[in-house]
Amino acid sequence: MTDASAIDELFAAARAAQARAHVPYSRFPVGAAIRDEAGRVHAGCNVENAAYPQGACAEAGAISRMIAEGGRRIEAILVVGEGAMLCTPCGGCRQRIREFARPGTPVHIAGPEGVRRSFTLDELLPFSFGPDNLDTAGGAS
Ligand code: THU
Repeated sequence: MTDASAIDELFAAARAAQARAHVPYSRFPVGAAIRDEAGRVHAGCNVENAAYPQGACAEAGAISRMIAEGGRRIEAILVVGEGAMLCTPCGGCRQRIREFARPGTPVHIAGPEGVRRSFTLDELLPFSFGPDNLDTAGGAS
């Protein structure tokens, strides 16, 4: 699989999930798709709630799917949103991605027409705190 076709596959999965988003409040559907260490793709969408803070981002849904389906590493993630601006992951989701990714993991940001820009996770979340911090402090095994 070429890099381009791998990204196309993530884009298609994210768009399909985005089409199923539950967004009665923001009307801003988002889709996310992850490629895991085995090459499998896991997608999610945002799911809002009448109690607004209980809403979940698309990235959180995709990560949940990956873990439930047996994936353990994010090799690449693509996020697709609407509008003219880049739909970059919120701060909380950058940290959620961080748990399962490496500094160089690609984060592709797309609009309806395709990928607009690609970042590394480290660009979006520099000097991040992660599992390594706990390991070196002897806090987790
Ligand atoms: N949202 C995501 O799902 N992912 C992002 O990367 C940015 C924002 C959602 C949260 C909320 O349902 C809606 O977009 C508007 O903020």
